[in-house]
Amino acid sequence: MGALGRLIRTTAFKLSLVYLVVFSGLTLFLTAYIANNTADLLDSQINDTIQSEINSLSDQYERGGLRQLVSAVDLRSRRPGASLYLVADSSGRTVVGNVADPPLSLLGLSDGAATTVSYQRLDGETSRRYDAVVRVFALPGGFKLLVGRDIGEISQLRSLIFDASRYAIIVMVLTGFVSWFFVGRSVLKRVENMAETSRRLMSGDLTHRLTVKGSHDEFDNLALSLNEMLDRIEALMTGLREVSDNIAHDLKTPLNRLRGRLEETLRRGGPVEDYREAITSAMEEADNLIHIFDALLKIARMEAGSSGDSFEALDAAGILDEIVELYEPVVEDAGGRLTLETARPLPLKGNRTLLSQALSNLIDNAIKYGQPEGGGLSIALTGTVEDGEVCLSVADAGPGIPEADRQKALSRFGRLDAARSRQGSGLGLSLVAAVARLHGGRFMLGDAGPGLRASLHLPRV
Ligand SMILES: Nc1ncnc2c1ncn2[C@@H]1O[C@H](COP(=O)(O)OP(=O)(O)O)[C@@H](O)[C@H]1O
Ligand SMILES: [Mg+2]
Repeated sequence: MGALGRLIRTTAFKLSLVYLVVFSGLTLFLTAYIANNTADLLDSQINDTIQSEINSLSDQYERGGLRQLVSAVDLRSRRPGASLYLVADSSGRTVVGNVADPPLSLLGLSDGAATTVSYQRLDGETSRRYDAVVRVFALPGGFKLLVGRDIGEISQLRSLIFDASRYAIIVMVLTGFVSWFFVGRSVLKRVENMAETSRRLMSGDLTHRLTVKGSHDEFDNLALSLNEMLDRIEALMTGLREVSDNIAHDLKTPLNRLRGRLEETLRRGGPVEDYREAITSAMEEADNLIHIFDALLKIARMEAGSSGDSFEALDAAGILDEIVELYEPVVEDAGGRLTLETARPLPLKGNRTLLSQALSNLIDNAIKYGQPEGGGLSIALTGTVEDGEVCLSVADAGPGIPEADRQKALSRFGRLDAARSRQGSGLGLSLVAAVARLHGGRFMLGDAGPGLRASLHLPRV
């Protein structure tokens, strides 16, 4: 019962119902129109026939009086056909004709008006009654003349038309019902499938997806775009969960460390110098924490994908120039060399600040981790255009990152063992990757042989 109720509430059902009502109405109207017009036509034909019979009989009467009329009526009433004739005397008895015992009341109507009556034929089955249109005229001497025509054929035709339209409507209702049932059920099934999937999704299992049948209909399109939306939501949720997990794990450690150190200093109660030192290191730690929060916020904001609004057309070669200007003194102070080799222009659509930030992170890393053992620091910045992509890369000559560790280095808070002695949060490369994604590009770690080559591939315009 519930299933039927749901079936009835479907759009398919409502549409079928509307069609059914409209088509039934149309059929009814058409058949009524046809039946009515046909009947009118036949009626007027009958009246014409009766009129012409009357004309010819009145001719006979004028020429030969009652006697000739009677013999003409006698002759005609013997012919088979739908015409009725009767001559009756003043007492209502039949003189001649093919109508059995006409009712007296009928013969009383002697004004010649057309009337519909039921009668018995003299030559037909005695028990059966027929319908006819008749006209009765009074003749001198109390005689009556009745001329008429059987209308059984018309009634038959009329009932034939009504039968046909009744069957047509029944067939239409049945087909409508059957098609509604099948269409409605398949629609209902798919909607139900969607509802079921969304229930599962709401219960927290974001891995479920709507089924795409490959029929390329509205349902498929809907399912496809909903699935796309779910992919995006799932990615965002995973990102969010990761960030909060990482914050919980990784920020707790430095905060605890900070607190522990302050507590220790307080408990020891040493000279002012000790306090000063403790406060300075606490400030450093706090700065570090602020940096981490800053980076996390930036990444989260980029992952949320409010891309595009801050994008402008720019030349990435200009950004490379600025970076070189900014970092050359730093690298030279560390006894190293920073080189730039770039094609010009490098047309991009993007956010200047974020791209600078990403390149700065890469150069920071190269300075921190890219020092070759027993050699001088050497950092190469390159900008190229290939296959519709602008590629910005930073390569150093240090130890590099083994293939197996690259995923970890890219992950949030991911730091390799070799880096433990250095300051850092493990968010630098995550931020670069987020910038690349935001720009619709990729970020890749490769081998500079020796050293690490970190490259940003961004779509050119
Ligand atoms: N140029 C590089 N050479 C070798 N290892 C690197 C280089 N850049 C990054 N790494 C490794 O990748 C890890 C992640 O880098 P990053 O996300 O910038 O974090 P952080 O610099 O804060 O340690 C680093 O801890 C380091 O182990
Ligand atoms: Mg870094």
